[in-house]
Formats: sequence, structure tokens, C-alpha cells
Amino acid sequence: MEDIKPELHIVGICGSLRKHSFNRGLLRALEQQLPDKLKFTVADLSDLPFYSEEREQNLPETVVKLKELVESADAIVVSSPEYNMSYTAVLKNALEWLSRGSLQRPLAGKPVAIIGAASIQVGVSQSHLRDVMCALNARLINRPIIQVGNAREKFDEKGNLIDSSVKGQLETLKDELIEFLK
Ligand SMILES: Cc1cc2nc3c(=O)[nH]c(=O)nc-3n(C[C@H](O)[C@H](O)[C@H](O)COP(=O)(O)O)c2cc1C
Repeated sequence: MEDIKPELHIVGICGSLRKHSFNRGLLRALEQQLPDKLKFTVADLSDLPFYSEEREQNLPETVVKLKELVESADAIVVSSPEYNMSYTAVLKNALEWLSRGSLQRPLAGKPVAIIGAASIQVGVSQSHLRDVMCALNARLINRPIIQVGNAREKFDEKGNLIDSSVKGQLETLKDELIEFLK
């Protein structure tokens, strides 16, 4: 671990606002595996207003905060549930803000890993998300693929990850992130 650059910052973006969200739990479990040298912050999307062109004239404070947080990140990890075979409106709204020139498109060139958990399965949502990330010119970290289906069996009622196989996948992601950021 000695060769990790000091002050690396990873930002998590969660597609769910649910209090005991499994996806928030997935990000939390990743954070627990990261070495102390790495800073990890989860973006707060709970007060982000819906994107509208008029709102760009006078950017809301929550939008500016999100932009600055994403700008400060060396890498982003997005975790989203699957809603009706896509990713969530909460996340789509955040990406619409982050795609705008008025925010200097902070995801352009940014390393982004996509993970997710859902009641039944995760799959199509990640394909949709990958397409949008390509449109935003993010640099996708393609492996490992982490798609946690049957989430109720893999998290406790507080949204804490209890599944050792998924913990192993997150460890692989941690190694990949560190390698990517060398
Ligand atoms: C509007 C809506 C649509 C959903 N659609 C799907 C789906 O297509 N596939 C699936 O596996 N789960 C689906 N679910 C269940 C979510 O995967 C489940 O609520 C999950 O726990 C949400 O993630 P979270 O725990 O991070 O909030 C849906 C839930 C909602 C509220």
C-alpha cells in the first residue's frame, strides 16, 4: 500500500435515498475496505432540485456542492438499484446537472466504477448507466462487474452488507481502483 498517492479522494454516488439503502450499504462496505490514506465521501443527493435550464442561471447551493465534490474526486463509484429495469430518477437527475457546461462537466475524464444492488437483479440499469457515462465522457472502470441481486439476503435490516462473496468483489474493486489511480 506504500505506493498509493497521498490524499486520494473517492466519491460515492448512491442512486437511492432510502434510509437503510442496500446501495448506500454497498458504498459503506467499500469504504470500510479502503486503506486509511484514501478519503471517501458519499454525495448527498437528497436535496438536489430537479434539473431545469432556468435553474442554471442561478445555480442552487446543493448543485454547486455536488459539482465541487465531484471535481475534488480522483474517482467516482456509483451504486444504484434497478428501478423498472433502469437506474433511478434520483441518479439521472444528478447526472443531468453534472452533464452541463455551466458546471464545467465535472465527470468528463473522471474514472467511474458502477456497482449496484436490487431486490431481484441488477443488469440492464448498469448498461443504461454505462451509455450515459460514455455520453458524459467519463472513463469507465469496467471490472469487476458488481451486480448484487436478491439483496434482501445479502444485507441486514439496517442496510449493512453481510455477504462474504460480495465483500470479496468489493475487495477486487478496491484493488482495481488503487491500480487505476497509481
Ligand atoms: C419504483 C421501483 C422499481 C423497482 N424495480 C425493480 C426492478 O426492475 N428490478 C429489481 O430487481 N428491483 C426493483 N425494485 C426493487 C429495488 O431493487 C429495491 O427496492 C432495492 O432495495 C432498492 O435499493 P436500495 O435498497 O438501495 O434503496 C424496484 C423498486 C422500486 C421502488
